[in-house]
Amino acid sequence: MTIFDAAPRDAKLTLHPDFAVATVDPRLFGSFVEHLGRCVYTGIFEPEHPTADEDGLRTDALALIRELGVTLVRYPGGNFVSGYRWEDGVGPAPARPRRLEPAWHTVETNRFGLDEFARFAEKAGVEPMMAVNLGTRGLQEACDLLEYANHPGGTAWSELRRSHGADKPYGFRLWCLGNEMDGPWQIGHKSAEEYGALAAATARAMRLIDPDLSLVACGSSSRGMPTFGSWEAAVLDHAFDEVDYISCHAYYEEQDGDVDSFLASAADMDSFIEGVVATADHVAAKRRSAKRINISFDEWNVWYASRPWNNGGEAPGAEAWPVAPRQLEDVYNVTDAVVVGSLLISLLRHADRVTAACLAQLVNVIAPIMTEPGGPAWRQTTFYPFAEAARYGRGQVLQLQLESPTYDTAKHGTVPLLHSAVVLGEDGVLTIFAVNRDTSVPLRVTADLRAFGALGPVEYTVLADADRLAANTLTQPDRVVPRAAAGARVEGGQLTVELPALSWNTIRISRA
Ligand code: AHR
Repeated sequence: MTIFDAAPRDAKLTLHPDFAVATVDPRLFGSFVEHLGRCVYTGIFEPEHPTADEDGLRTDALALIRELGVTLVRYPGGNFVSGYRWEDGVGPAPARPRRLEPAWHTVETNRFGLDEFARFAEKAGVEPMMAVNLGTRGLQEACDLLEYANHPGGTAWSELRRSHGADKPYGFRLWCLGNEMDGPWQIGHKSAEEYGALAAATARAMRLIDPDLSLVACGSSSRGMPTFGSWEAAVLDHAFDEVDYISCHAYYEEQDGDVDSFLASAADMDSFIEGVVATADHVAAKRRSAKRINISFDEWNVWYASRPWNNGGEAPGAEAWPVAPRQLEDVYNVTDAVVVGSLLISLLRHADRVTAACLAQLVNVIAPIMTEPGGPAWRQTTFYPFAEAARYGRGQVLQLQLESPTYDTAKHGTVPLLHSAVVLGEDGVLTIFAVNRDTSVPLRVTADLRAFGALGPVEYTVLADADRLAANTLTQPDRVVPRAAAGARVEGGQLTVELPALSWNTIRISRA
């Protein structure tokens, strides 16, 4: 029996155009470029590559980034930022220092830095999300960086930027106050009290230089951290008035063959988001404040973190300090893509409070896009759910009445087999994103759409495969692609569609 011929089970959705969760913030479709592995070097930047432009940017990678629909890119880290001297990366490239980069045990050449990133962001059509180093550095360096980037001119830092060819200020609006400061692995790791006080003071000083900023305080680097919950509460007790967002980071992987738990990863993401919202609102209540701190889910993905040198061969010995080695080059299969789709559904369903998010990362490092030095660029399986969500997930997320069979998981309890989010676009088109978590049986979904009036044609694409481990690689870059599917139809205001086992589905219904 193939996964396509078992008897389907039934699930039901009911929707109404007047019942919305929120309008999706375009910042929800962000990604992340860290100085890690080959994300920057031979990823987005490779001056020697045949497709490189005048800035050394790979135009083949840029084309895929635009196709992916990324709106926002966080830079330059990640763990990297907590030991970074941003001044090393500006000015004439030959004069820039090579430095030991302890977070990932490499040598950083600084051939790519802030000004190159600004040009990349402009060409990719994305908003930069900058991170400041609150690990080895602090308030003063954050202010210097902000002055370099955003002050028009007439001061040492702003004139330095102008002398580097950027006459106009960059006007970066969105800034992360450090990275994962709750993690003992983080360079300059701090207690919640220390970090909260530093984040608040840095935020206040940065706003004196440029009041028009959106600032993100570090939340927990995973829901499994022992300080989860108390960290957010303590940090916000210090920084509530100064910041706009608190961050969440989460990575998931299939472990010990437990695909059922892996497919339910979004249940953990839901609990994570809801726990942080409750904590932030608790701090608001204590202050009798109407202000709402939103969530920047600025690192999320599937990551086989238990194999950090994935596909890069052996980890080098402690004495080796390579330049841009192959690190975290996870190859994603169909199951991973379905989980990424499900995590996107979770983010969309919390669009009232998750108003920024970054798929970590963008190129080569746990990424939807891969490149080969001197060679081609291609799309991983995870590229497709992200691209479809970024393209069609714009407008209002609708509330869902969802009835679905459930299944039991070892890690996440009992979860529905159907996972879905529905977005009503500004163009009136209704997009249903749906995941069938059943690994062997199709799911027949009916959706009651009578409240939407007359409905027009239906488009349906599906990402599924008889081999759930199928992946795209250098030699087979298009092994897995979404395919147009038949079998979704609307009659009498009711949609019926049969979702294949273990699948990511996008159903678009026009209003007549
Ligand atoms: O994205 C990879 C790493 O994961 C980042 O550098 C760090 O912030 C997180 O732990």
